[in-house]
Amino acid sequence: MSKNGASPILEVRSISKYFGSVIALQEVSLELRPGEVMCLLGDNGAGKSTLIKILSGVHRADAGEYLVEGVPVHFESPRDALALGIATVYQDLAMIPLMGISRNFFLGSEPTAGWGIFKRFDMKRANQIARDEMAKMGIDIRDPEQAVGTLSGGERQSVAIARAVYFGAKVLILDEPTSALGVKQAGTVLRYVAKARSQGVAVIFITHNPHHAYPIGDRFTILKRGRTLGTFTKQELPREEMIRMMSGGEELEALEHELREFSNDTMLAAMADSLHEESKAL
Ligand SMILES: Nc1ncnc2c1ncn2[C@@H]1O[C@H](COP(=O)(O)OP(=O)(O)OP(=O)(O)O)[C@@H](O)[C@H]1O
Ligand SMILES: [Mg+2]
Repeated sequence: MSKNGASPILEVRSISKYFGSVIALQEVSLELRPGEVMCLLGDNGAGKSTLIKILSGVHRADAGEYLVEGVPVHFESPRDALALGIATVYQDLAMIPLMGISRNFFLGSEPTAGWGIFKRFDMKRANQIARDEMAKMGIDIRDPEQAVGTLSGGERQSVAIARAVYFGAKVLILDEPTSALGVKQAGTVLRYVAKARSQGVAVIFITHNPHHAYPIGDRFTILKRGRTLGTFTKQELPREEMIRMMSGGEELEALEHELREFSNDTMLAAMADSLHEESKAL
């Protein structure tokens, strides 16, 4: 089957979620296809994290349907999602800083049906696997028993992603994995995301950074105040348009004008200038 014709691995139909009087999501629908990277874009508070928390079994939707490989699901916890191969890497990673890399690598992946292969924890084997898997990502760990807390942010993200892929994730959900990273480390993570895709893993990638989204995204879903503005391919959404839609280009312009009104203040004028440069760059 062609990539575009493939049936969705995940699908939500008209999902809504309320927190008291806050409407976090309103009738959001989307589908994720095997082997694609879908970037989930939107401003702060748009509902991105809420949506992926529903997908990963942290929250339940108040309305709407959720299907995995065409079958309706009702997850009670993230374990239920994981059992179907839906793995999520959060920004505040579920890792134990004082524990070593390989211990963390196998953390929470005790053998259950179709998930993990170890009956007992074999440290030597674990170290070898952790080292090999990290090497595949281009990260050379000298000592797999090195405490995770001593790794850099990008290296920690990489351990979390490598672990999910190693344990057979079919869907990898990444909530802003590159936001705290420098250019080189973000590159490492992005390269690995591309690699996971080439192995047929479907990826949902949340980012505020259009320069991270554009090169690896196959399709882009844009959320705005809890609603989806739609899902677009690269052809449908040129880079400049995407950047405008996601980063509030108009707001930057408005702010620039506001600051101009105080332009006898040299500091504010300088700020307006730099905003002008920024919106031009966007
Ligand atoms: N547990 C909660 N209780 C109450 N309100 C919540 C809760 N979680 C999210 N919200 C609200 O739902 C809305 C969407 O939040 P969400 O975290 O999904 O946004 P986001 O798109 O991930 O934003 P950001 O880019 O800042 O991470 C916000 O108004 C937020 O305050
Ligand atoms: Mg969020």
